[in-house]
Amino acid sequence: MKDSTFNPSDCDIQQFREDLLNWFIHEQRDLPWRKDNHPYKVWVSEIMLQQTRVDTVIPYFERFMEEFPTMEAFAAADDESVLKIWEGLGYYSRVRHLHSAVKEVVEHYGGKVPDTQREISKLKGVGPYTAGAILSIAYGKPEPAVDGNVMRVLSRILLIEEDIAKPATRKVFEASVRTLIDPNNPSYFNQALMELGALVCTPTSPACLLCPVREHCQAFANGKEQELPVKSRKTSVRHVTLLTAVLKSADNRYLICKRPSEGLLANLWEFPTVEAGNWQYSTQRNLLSHHLQDQYQTTIHLETGSFTHVDHTFSHLKWSMDVFAGEINGPVDLQAGSLLVTREELETFAFPVPHQKIWKAYKEKYFSDRER
Ligand code: ADE
Repeated sequence: MKDSTFNPSDCDIQQFREDLLNWFIHEQRDLPWRKDNHPYKVWVSEIMLQQTRVDTVIPYFERFMEEFPTMEAFAAADDESVLKIWEGLGYYSRVRHLHSAVKEVVEHYGGKVPDTQREISKLKGVGPYTAGAILSIAYGKPEPAVDGNVMRVLSRILLIEEDIAKPATRKVFEASVRTLIDPNNPSYFNQALMELGALVCTPTSPACLLCPVREHCQAFANGKEQELPVKSRKTSVRHVTLLTAVLKSADNRYLICKRPSEGLLANLWEFPTVEAGNWQYSTQRNLLSHHLQDQYQTTIHLETGSFTHVDHTFSHLKWSMDVFAGEINGPVDLQAGSLLVTREELETFAFPVPHQKIWKAYKEKYFSDRER
């Protein structure tokens, strides 16, 4: 059934809701944000769950709620601890926006997350999916919460063949949810669609034989469940080669730099890095060494070979990093955004995953078991 002809009878819809919700009531996972439906917890969990798997999110969510149990506590946090709690989750603008938006709720909404589409959608980082998830799960409002997983599930059930990679397609699915959603339990209805996408109606091999709504599924009836959803290819991933140095001063401190406040990994910390491939230098080590001595106006000695290689793929970019250990011999011209820190201090700063891997490899190679 194409979306244009999507017109199930009231009886079909009623049965669909019943089958879906009964399944969810019995099979839902015990997840920490499901213990109560406090809007703050729903909000934080939904932001974490964008682009990140449930298993990864659980420990982050628990640490977050321990450190910032209330919106007031989170609003009062400094930017550095906000980034640190998100360290490793990726897509760091999510937490910067969440922080601004929670401050806004504390300052302008008396600490209560707005419960209307109009107000909640004005908050930073709250797009249509997050707005719908909070309004339905925390406030029981019949609003759609359509993300990629829900689009996959509904594209199969309703045989919708529009390209889910196109931003405009989400509206097609929102319209379907508005027709299907259970007015008596919008929270469970939306969560059941998410849960079905996670546990049964999975991307590559959907477990149709276990599906509670198989009898309602147009794709299954037509043998098309493997072909859906239709999703056009993303643009290709750009590849850059980087040279990085872990530099230790004579008094056992390490040089770290803060990334710019805009763009990729904004405001996170890293080891000094330069893009490779400037062939006026005889070796990549020479290039790195000249760059660092010039930048920090000091004398640096790098070891001959790199001690580790780290690859990391972001959504649109791949870093291939060769990493050298080295020593700083002499005073350093620390520019704004660079610091020399002890090893203990270093570990309180937020680093992106590839730089965390570098630090781990460094400790394994250069620290004794006891020091690690
Ligand atoms: N994915 C997105 N939101 C979710 C939720 N509330 N529970 C489980 N998985 C999800």
